[in-house]
Amino acid sequence: MNFLSNRLGFGADYNPEQWSPEVWRDDIRLMREAGVTIVTLGIFSWATVEQEPGRYDFGWLDEVMDLLAAAGIDVSLATGTASPPSWLSRLHPETLPVNHDGVRLSPGSRQHYCPSSPVYREAAVGLAVQMAKRYGTHPALKLWHVGNEYGCHIQECYCDVSADDFRAWLRDRYGDLDGLNAAWSTTFWSQRVTDWADVLPPRTAPTLRNPAQDLDFRRFSSDALLACYRAERAVLQELTPGVPITTNIMGMWEPVADYASWAADFDIVALDIYPEPKDPTAHIDAAFFHDQMRSLGGGRPYMMMETATSAISYRPPNRPKRTGLNRLWSHQAVARGADAVMYFQWRASAGGAEKFHSAVVSHGGADNRIFREAAALGAELSSLSDVAGGRVPADVAIVHDYANWWALELDARPGELKIPERVRAHYAPLWHANVTVDVVPPEADLSAYKLVVVPNLYLCTDAAADGLRRYVEGGGHLLMSFFSGIADECDRIRLGGYPGAFRELLGLRVEEFWPLSDGERAGLSSGGGADLWADHIVPEGAEVLAAYTGGPLPGLPAVTRHAFGAGTATYLGTRPDEHSMRDLVADTLRLAGVAPVVAGLPAGVEAVRRGRHLFLLNHNDHAVHAAGTDLAPRDVAVLRLDRDPASGAAAAPSLQSGAVPPVGEGA
Ligand code: GAL
Ligand code: ZN
Repeated sequence: MNFLSNRLGFGADYNPEQWSPEVWRDDIRLMREAGVTIVTLGIFSWATVEQEPGRYDFGWLDEVMDLLAAAGIDVSLATGTASPPSWLSRLHPETLPVNHDGVRLSPGSRQHYCPSSPVYREAAVGLAVQMAKRYGTHPALKLWHVGNEYGCHIQECYCDVSADDFRAWLRDRYGDLDGLNAAWSTTFWSQRVTDWADVLPPRTAPTLRNPAQDLDFRRFSSDALLACYRAERAVLQELTPGVPITTNIMGMWEPVADYASWAADFDIVALDIYPEPKDPTAHIDAAFFHDQMRSLGGGRPYMMMETATSAISYRPPNRPKRTGLNRLWSHQAVARGADAVMYFQWRASAGGAEKFHSAVVSHGGADNRIFREAAALGAELSSLSDVAGGRVPADVAIVHDYANWWALELDARPGELKIPERVRAHYAPLWHANVTVDVVPPEADLSAYKLVVVPNLYLCTDAAADGLRRYVEGGGHLLMSFFSGIADECDRIRLGGYPGAFRELLGLRVEEFWPLSDGERAGLSSGGGADLWADHIVPEGAEVLAAYTGGPLPGLPAVTRHAFGAGTATYLGTRPDEHSMRDLVADTLRLAGVAPVVAGLPAGVEAVRRGRHLFLLNHNDHAVHAAGTDLAPRDVAVLRLDRDPASGAAAAPSLQSGAVPPVGEGA
């Protein structure tokens, strides 16, 4: 898979079915002007291509494909199956999804299909087959784009077809009803099932549902969506071997699907990401998602398949991106491993639900700053072709797991923990320290990392527990937060003292959890304070780094460290305030011998090394001098590390632009 390997891709979703052939010609002219190298074509074109079942109209698409080929623009061709046409819902209303209250959703939006529906899958695969037969050898075709953002709106369906599919999935996982009853702890509340027909999706019930059932339904639903993707992938592989295949997944704080279990089916990982221009820390979350995408692909380059040139259209007030912000955030993707920068969408729609979403070509055309900034970026990316393919080294890994995410946020836990906040609290100090991080599942091979950070891994498999133990034993350094290692993969408590999976590794036991109320705080003997949670820790070999000076457990240990084998395991029994957390992370980085990409940078400047390049990204709204380089507000410098890849200071020459008159200052 190397269609992008000798240049950085630049482009957008292209939806020509919304426009006339004259506009297509204008599009191609403007694409060339903007330096577009690749478009994702026809994502929502099912109803245009197949207007009646089995009757296809490819004429317009033939013409667009030919125009793009003639212009030397690559096509990531959508199979077009993300939004079924009206006839499918009319002829087969059973393909419409049902929510947990039993309400069948109507067509009229998009993604209105039950992922388990054999009728939907057959129709989707049918279209994919036609697309493959028609365009499999077209010179413009470089990549298949299957569906679109699986699970973006419909993550689960609770209909009877899905219920049957869920049963089949459970039979496969547990063998028989005894296995299922044990896994779901059904002796509690008289939930024992004696007939498969009694096994249901977690539909709305009188009160708290069975958590293991909830958890398995999330797993099943992720697999059902994956099965839709795989069904199309299988026919594409057969009909067009050699053409890479992907689908776009989402960089956002929602556990839509277990992407770690999807990754092996992507020939290249493709990320959609819409950081919020109003959020002053949006770039830190974005950095995390970029790191996650790179890591999903095992370090290989990925594509930023969608982002916005300026305003989005669904988080009002939808503020435009200030001058330079599109460039800055696009470079951030490239710095962290993306080999393509693409937008939703090429031309802003005249009608429909998303007409106020920014595009490369606006409602007023191309004579405006959005287009000029995009075109300048296109030219800049083309001058950076030697960045393509470069690897991003990381000494630190952060553990991130979807089953844990689902489980931790179920009802009736000792305190309200949210994975987005918990992961951010661990990732942000690493970002501020300019340390690059890989995002890995708990069962990953950790041997290459100097430090492994584990935010609140409540649910953990035996394999993960063994792996983390072996990692530290072998000389690794671990930083782990409270409420980890508590439950097994069926959400059953690991008995014999908390935290069952890590007691020996951490050299302690936790007697009770003391979650704090909103606004309640506990001081720390190391200075600063903590909130949210306090473990009652009883050391069993661990040394105490800090004790509580207030709150429910004064004088008891709050932060500990345990020398284990050749490594160390540092444990946080609480949530330290931001400053204390940065100190703790800095201390652990020192212990693990992890150096920043560039030391001593001004706050808000992100440094990332990629191959033989050093990216300096100024996220501040003021100018800075960083690593020997002057950076304007929201400016970027890409330094070629010709002499000494380890030191930014020896770098030359630098590439910067940012010579566009600023818009949105003081906003
Ligand atoms: C994505 C989606 C696009 C478009 C975009 C902007 O989630 O894939 O089709 O809707 O968001 O809202
Ligand atoms: Zn269903």
